[in-house]
Amino acid sequence: MNAPETFSLAAAEPHVMPTYGRLPLALAYGRGCWVWDTEGRKYLDGLGGIAVNTLGHAHPKLVPALQDQIAKLIHSSNYYLVPLQEQLAARLCELAGMTNVFFCNSGLEANEAALKIARKYGHDRGVDRPEIVVYESAFHGRSIATLSATGNPKVQAGFAPLVEGFVRVPLNDASAIEAVARTNRNVVAVFLEVIQGEGGINPATVPYLREVRRICDERGWLLMLDEVQCGMGRTGKWFAHQWAGIKPDVMPLAKGLGSGVPIGAVVCGPKAADVFKAGNHGSTFGGNPLAMRAGVETLRIMEEEGLLENAARVGAALKRGLEEGLAGVAGVTEIRGQGLMLGIELARPCGALLGRAADAGLMLSVTAERVIRLVPPLILSADEARQMVAILVPLIRDFLAEPQ
Ligand SMILES: Cc1ncc(COP(=O)(O)O)c(C=O)c1O
Repeated sequence: MNAPETFSLAAAEPHVMPTYGRLPLALAYGRGCWVWDTEGRKYLDGLGGIAVNTLGHAHPKLVPALQDQIAKLIHSSNYYLVPLQEQLAARLCELAGMTNVFFCNSGLEANEAALKIARKYGHDRGVDRPEIVVYESAFHGRSIATLSATGNPKVQAGFAPLVEGFVRVPLNDASAIEAVARTNRNVVAVFLEVIQGEGGINPATVPYLREVRRICDERGWLLMLDEVQCGMGRTGKWFAHQWAGIKPDVMPLAKGLGSGVPIGAVVCGPKAADVFKAGNHGSTFGGNPLAMRAGVETLRIMEEEGLLENAARVGAALKRGLEEGLAGVAGVTEIRGQGLMLGIELARPCGALLGRAADAGLMLSVTAERVIRLVPPLILSADEARQMVAILVPLIRDFLAEPQ
C-alpha cells in the first residue's frame, strides 16, 4: 500500500465505485479559503467541501485542538458517558433555544433519525400510519428513507419501492399545505429545508415558515427543519429559521458542524425531545469524542471570530458584486440566497462551468442543472469575495455568450 503522497492517481486501477461525476484533479492541502491540488495548482474555495469547511482549511485554532483530541481519545463507545457530547449538546441547545440532541455522523443519518422521531411521535398519539409532509425539489439524503423524502426523481430512479408515508407539496404555497391539513388525518410532521440547497438555493419565505409553524401548532404536528446545509451560521444567524423568528421541534444538522470532521446531530425541542426512549435509536460512531471536539471547537471559534457577522457581511458583499457584475447579462435568471449560501440561476444548464471554474482557479458547484452554487468557508474575507467575483463574472459572461 502506497503512502498517500506517493500514490499515483493516473496509474491506479479504478476500484472506487463510480458514483460521482468527478473533475480530474485531487486536492492535496489547504490554508484558509485556498486549496492546492497535487500538481501544485491553487484554487479559491467557493465550495468549502459543499458547505462543510466552516473554518476553512487548517485553521490554526482547530488543528491543535483536534491533534490534542486524537492523542487523547478518538472513539470510545455509547456504552459509556461521553462528556464532550454533553458539552456540544448543551451549546447547541443554548444557540437554538431547544432542549435535547441525538448525535450521528452525517446529514442523511440526522434526517433518518428525524423521520423515525416523526413516526414514533405519531404512533405514540395513536396514528397507525403516520405521514410526513415533504417538498418538491427537496434533498434530504440518499438512504432509502431520505431519498424517498427527497423531491428529485433522479435521486429516486432505480430504487423503488420507495418508503411510503410522505405527502409532497410545493414550497412556499400555503394553500397546498392548508389543503393537506384539512384532508389528511395521518399527517404528524412537516419536513423542509429552510433554504433548499441541492434543489437550487430556493429559500422558504419568512411568511411561509411562520404559516407552517402556525399549522403545526394548530394540528399538533412536528415542525422538522433540515438545516444540514443552511444551518451553522451560513446565512448569518446560527440557524436559517431564526430569520423568521420561529423555532422548529426537530432540527437535523451536519455538514458545517464539525468543520470537516464527519458529524450529524438532531436537535429537538420539548415536543420531540422525549419521543426516543432507550433502545429506540443508536449509532456506533455517533457522538464520538473526535467529532464532538470538532463541534465544540467549531462553535467556539465561530463565536470568537465573529463568523456569523462575517457570513452576513461578506455574503452580502459577494451577492452585490455578482449582481453588479452580471447586471443586464442575458441568460442570468436570478441571484438568490442569504449570507454565504448563494445561487446564480442561469437560463440554461451550466454543468460545464464546474471544470472551467477550476481551470480559472475557483472551486464551486452547479446544482439543479442551472444553478451555480457558492457555499465557501465562513472565514471568507471581503477581498477574497472580490477575487471570487473577478473570476466568476467573466466565466459566466463568456459561457452565456456562446451559441447554444
Ligand atoms: C439539506 C440536506 N440534507 C441532507 C443532506 C445529506 O447529507 P449527507 O450527504 O451528509 O448525508 C444534504 C447533503 O447535501 C443536504 O443538503
